[in-house]
This record gives sequence, C-alpha cells and structure tokens, in this order.
Amino acid sequence: MRQPLVAGNWKMNGSRESIRALLDGLKQGIGQVEVAEVAVCPPFIYIPDVQEQLQGTAIAWGGQDVSTEASGAYTGEISTAMLLDFGCRYVIVGHSERRSYHGESDQLVAKKYAAARAAGLIPILCVGETLEEREGGVTEQVVARQLDAVIDLEGVSALAGGVIAYEPVWAIGTGRTATPEQAQEVHAFIRGRVAQQDSAVAEGLRILYGGSMKPGNAAELLAKPDIDGGLIGGASLQAEDFLGICTAAN
Ligand code: PGA
Repeated sequence: MRQPLVAGNWKMNGSRESIRALLDGLKQGIGQVEVAEVAVCPPFIYIPDVQEQLQGTAIAWGGQDVSTEASGAYTGEISTAMLLDFGCRYVIVGHSERRSYHGESDQLVAKKYAAARAAGLIPILCVGETLEEREGGVTEQVVARQLDAVIDLEGVSALAGGVIAYEPVWAIGTGRTATPEQAQEVHAFIRGRVAQQDSAVAEGLRILYGGSMKPGNAAELLAKPDIDGGLIGGASLQAEDFLGICTAAN
C-alpha cells in the first residue's frame, strides 16, 4: 500500500506575509487530512520561516532544486546539507521549468537525484513530455529517457523510496489537465518500466501527477490505480484549494 503524497510547488511566489497566512490556513485545515502525506516546497529563502511555522505539524517541507555538489565555489547554489540543516525532507529535481529555462539535462537531473538520495533527502523526480512530443507520439520515449537517466546512473534500486512526478509540460500552469486516462496510461508505463527491472521497487514507487491539478479534478485523477498523489503548482498557493486536493487524496 503506497501512502499518497500531495506536495505543493510554490515556485517563485509569495512573501513572508503571504506565506504566513497560507501556512496558518494549512495548519488549521490539515487536521482533517489523515491518510495522505503533505509537503510544501517554498522558494529557498523562505525555508527557515516555513520550518519555524511547520515544525511539529503533520506538514513536511522541501526544496525546489538542489546542487549536485557538496560545497564550495558554486555561486547561487544550495546544497543537500543546507536543505537538511533546515529540516527539509523532500527536494524536487528536474522540474520542466528547470529543464527548459536552465538547460538542465537528463544527466544533470540524475546527478541531482543521486545527490539528494545520498544525503538522505527524498527526491521528487519530475518527468514529462511537451505538447509537440505528445502530438508526435513520443511521450513514452521521452519519459523513458528521463527515467532511464536515473536508473543508468545508480541502478533501479535508486528508485526505492523515491518519488516520481509525471508532469506533462502542456498541462503545467495552463489549466489544461491530462485526462485521468491519459495520466494513468503514462503512470502505468513508468511503473511497468521499473517493474521490468525490479517489481518490488515498482510496487513501492510513488508516482504523482502534476499539471493543473485542482480540487475539482483531483479526485478522479487520484482514483486511478497508478496515481499516488499530486505535485501542485498554482493550486498550492491557496490554502483552501490545496486542502481540497489533500482531502481528495485521503
Ligand atoms: P500547476 O504546476 O499545478 O500550476 O500546473 C504544477 C507544477 O509545475 O509542478
């Protein structure tokens, strides 16, 4: 039995004031959420505030990205040890915005995944195809390539205890959600590909859906057998919406 995970990706949004209000709302509502695990991923600079406000609650927190390097002359980077220093449990790696705006390759993302795991963080590996790739019929090839980069680096056991987020790029922030059937198809493909190498790892692997997930569409997505939670962008910025998705995950 896989415990569902609902993770909020705040991206580059919020202020100290708005984050305080958002977390107050989440803390008040989270009592109703029992089954699913819940996490938020703030911009780095707000992580200390989030730690202070969420310490001792049922809500975990994490980073949106991480360096492959341990320390040293890497201007602008944040290490795994720094995230752990502020109580992070999760870290997102390979988000499509990092891949497209910062040119992150499959190999770099795989190294970030490995660095996070080695440090004791739980990496959330984002994979997903663009609209052009979907229309070109290469969705599975793209997702397989992104997934295989991690498996090639460290073997399939690297996925034990990890999390994958399937996020079709065309559904991110567009209001255009994959249908539950479209999402399930890719989730089943991912699990099947992992199962070819290790069925126990595949069975335990949490595969989240991301891309315009909202309270109104979460329940039918989460009802699918291979959808184990969500990575939520826009809807994670409003306590009521995010809690609505958490409730659906229960
Ligand atoms: P969205 O973003 O929910 O705003 O579509 C999801 C994501 O990018 O993780």
